[in-house]
Amino acid sequence: MNPLKSWQYRALYAIVGLLAASGLLWLAVHYLWGAGAEQLPHPLEPWLMRLHGAAAFAGLFMAGVLAAAHVPQGWRMTTRNPRLRQHKAGQRRTGLALCALGVAVVFSGYLLFYFAPEDWRAAIGWSHAALGLVLAALLPLHGWRHGVRSRRR
Ligand code: HEM
Ligand code: HEM
Repeated sequence: MNPLKSWQYRALYAIVGLLAASGLLWLAVHYLWGAGAEQLPHPLEPWLMRLHGAAAFAGLFMAGVLAAAHVPQGWRMTTRNPRLRQHKAGQRRTGLALCALGVAVVFSGYLLFYFAPEDWRAAIGWSHAALGLVLAALLPLHGWRHGVRSRRR
């Protein structure tokens, strides 16, 4: 068993949900309601990015929380115990994929904030959003609480 504490589980889903929602809304405002690149940004855009940035910092905090216990413990229990390894092999694969996606989405977010030259910005932004959405979709496949067993906390 490698369950998260209740507050960690809720915080993780709340933060990933907030990141995905603010990112998707920004895309909608920027590309659909807003105008083309030649016009001023819609006034909602900076507010959505402020929210997104705050959630991103909280997400980094959660990455630290998971790195301290969940990931090493999950790794051990999918290695040493042959019975569990068979049972939980998929958990290791999806866990690793979540880690890789996390690194890629943080790195592309960093590029967007500090480095993106104008002619690269849209491509980096779309890749960043796509990676983030794959992460958000994979999270429940890796760690959705089913049934009463894991609801006991
Ligand atoms: C190599 C890395 C990882 C490994 C080996 C791993 C392993 C595991 C295992 C074995 C479980 C099953 C626990 C059980 O059934 O009791 C689990 C659950 C879970 N994992 Fe991971 N994990 C990894 C990375 C991650 C990451 C990066 C995240 C979040 C972005 C994450 C989020 C979760 C969640 C939310 C659960 C459900 C916990 C619960 O029900 O309390 N894991 N993980
Ligand atoms: C969960 C899904 C996510 C989605 C859908 C998403 C989407 C977006 C979008 C659409 C933008 C604007 C792109 C542009 O300016 O062209 C953006 C910017 C950004 N994202 Fe995300 N993102 C996600 C997760 C994350 C995560 C996990 C982090 C970091 C921990 C992050 C950090 C950033 C940063 C730093 C920016 C730049 C902010 C700015 O320029 O003001 N994002 N994201």
